[in-house]
Amino acid sequence: MFKLSDFTLEEKFKLLTGKNVWEVDTSGKAPKFEMHDGPNGCKCFEDNANWQSRIIPTHCYPALSVISNSWNEEAAFLDGEGIAMDCVDNDTQMLLAPGVNIKRSLACGRNFEYFSEDPYLAGKMSKKFIEGVQSKGVGACIKHFALNNSEYDRLNVSANADERTMHDIYLRNFRIAMEAKPWAVMCSYNRVNGVFASENKDLLDNKLRKEMNYDGVIMSDWCAVFNRAKSLKATLDLQMPYEEHAYAQLKKAYEDGFITMEEIDASCQRILDMIKKWVDAAPLRTAPLTHDERYERCVRLAEEGMILLKNDGILPLKKVDNLAVLGLFAKLPAYSGGGSARVFSKYPPKPLYDELKKVYPETNIMFEGIFHEDEAGNVNNNLAKVNKAQRVAYAADAVIFTVGTGEIEESEARDRFTIKLRPQFVSVVNAVAKYNKNIILVVEASSAVDLSEVEDAASAILFTGFAGDGMNEAIANIISGKVNPSGKTTETFPYSIEDCYVTPDLENYYYDDYTDGVFIGYRHFDKCDIPVRYEFGYGLSYSEFKYSNLEIKKSGDDYIVSYDVENVSDVDGKEVSEVYIKDVFSLLPRPEKELAGFSKDFIKAGEKKRVSVKIEKSSLEYYLPPIKDYYLESGDFEVYVGGSSKDLPLKGKFTVEMPHYTQFTVNSEVDIDTF
Ligand code: BGC
Repeated sequence: MFKLSDFTLEEKFKLLTGKNVWEVDTSGKAPKFEMHDGPNGCKCFEDNANWQSRIIPTHCYPALSVISNSWNEEAAFLDGEGIAMDCVDNDTQMLLAPGVNIKRSLACGRNFEYFSEDPYLAGKMSKKFIEGVQSKGVGACIKHFALNNSEYDRLNVSANADERTMHDIYLRNFRIAMEAKPWAVMCSYNRVNGVFASENKDLLDNKLRKEMNYDGVIMSDWCAVFNRAKSLKATLDLQMPYEEHAYAQLKKAYEDGFITMEEIDASCQRILDMIKKWVDAAPLRTAPLTHDERYERCVRLAEEGMILLKNDGILPLKKVDNLAVLGLFAKLPAYSGGGSARVFSKYPPKPLYDELKKVYPETNIMFEGIFHEDEAGNVNNNLAKVNKAQRVAYAADAVIFTVGTGEIEESEARDRFTIKLRPQFVSVVNAVAKYNKNIILVVEASSAVDLSEVEDAASAILFTGFAGDGMNEAIANIISGKVNPSGKTTETFPYSIEDCYVTPDLENYYYDDYTDGVFIGYRHFDKCDIPVRYEFGYGLSYSEFKYSNLEIKKSGDDYIVSYDVENVSDVDGKEVSEVYIKDVFSLLPRPEKELAGFSKDFIKAGEKKRVSVKIEKSSLEYYLPPIKDYYLESGDFEVYVGGSSKDLPLKGKFTVEMPHYTQFTVNSEVDIDTF
């Protein structure tokens, strides 16, 4: 077995600085270790030494935002497990995923790669994804640590946040996910409170290693290390990819006594331990699914994460004689976002009209693409095309109109300027609506969009996300009612981006001050009492569910919340039930409510199911800067349960009683008259 003592000093420096774009440099003294993106497929290149070489097509799974919208932890596991099988096929040792950053800005170009605006949900889902990947003997690398919440000037910007904000929001997601023990953590590009994440000892050593007890590899994002010696001091073990100057920087810093042999060895040892994990996990790399089975899995995951935003009763669409299928994405859907996460599928979705033909074999299906998109993302149409679309719509009983963002609008390395739909889409949807009122709008975006300009024109709206290879099959299955939609939003859809605390700001002079504190996403809208279009946790079903019989019991340090969910319709369906808590009085301001648990359950028509959800002690605590720790405060907590963050029919409460000596004096205990 390979060991550190076999490595010369030169070989140690190489081990710390990468071999090429995707491999660790083991100098032939340990097995090969190769890693690839992530997060919605195993994206390998023909030549590991060449960034520009051909990308090898593979299965494209739904974006993590779609997996998140499923609110189904099992789905996150199956997603990770499926992608890991492709890694094994491609002799890839580690997947550069999941991305778990918080959706602080709705316009962040990478939101499609992330889970949620809520750290609890993001943490729980990514934990399962990591477990799924690693269950197949492949490593997961969680990213980007930390506070990489927008793409604008990401190589420069300093995300400035106070300790409480960091701990309660931007580190909490990682803290939860870390329970799955990912083999590696990738640092972010940006600075955190002035210091680059890659050189930030407080962030990497204190917060990640010490506070979260993390003893695995910390690696860089690609070219995120500016000074290799400083990054080693901050306990960043592996710089990726290979960059010529890194070796020389380490050598000089060692000769100057800036870095010690102890530090070098500690990082090298962690890298070797990671490689050993791959060796030891060999027995797990068995029983892969066939490619057909993986495709089927892609379809099921896509179905699970699509969200029905509006339905005036047109869906599920009964058999019709004539159906119009319109729009840019009807042929090739927006199945993947842009940037490093862009997967080129070997099994790309078939056109939507072909998938619809399978569920409506008797129907006359007419297609008109209307638009043409150039490489810069400009969408063009002409009057003749619009007129043709109107004629097709006029001749149809119903219209399925595909709109969305696609990889041009949602991509790494840039943010969106607006969350509105492109004006061409808006005008043509409204022009077609004059000739047919039965429009089913299929929104192929993976982050929140402002649909206000097309909403009235649509009888139903299905928000798909970038749902991978199975995307069009899933859309057809949901529209026809073969599958009952069960996804719910994991970020708030506001009426307008102006209602958000963070708006696209292109003049921020390299600083991004997180003055919104812990009040992000629904926490902000609740605090400021701002109405929203589709609240956090919202999504329709073809079934109807009723909630009753709330019961709360203490169980050790946690609380078990139980309630009945009844399917009062005649359609079988899945319901996501959500549990929120409110700390009634607290030393520091806390959100009106915070997600503390959820469950997704299949409930047959007419059936009632007893659901139990655990509220963990960690959901009740918050970070208290003076003690540099999490604090659990005695007092009442209210509990709300229901089908969305605004539809919470069940209410209850429990009281936390902590020993008096653990508690700080609250202002109501201070009698000012005695002074
Ligand atoms: C991205 C990472 C990715 C890496 C390798 C970077 O630009 O931020 O998420 O894993 O490239 O492609």
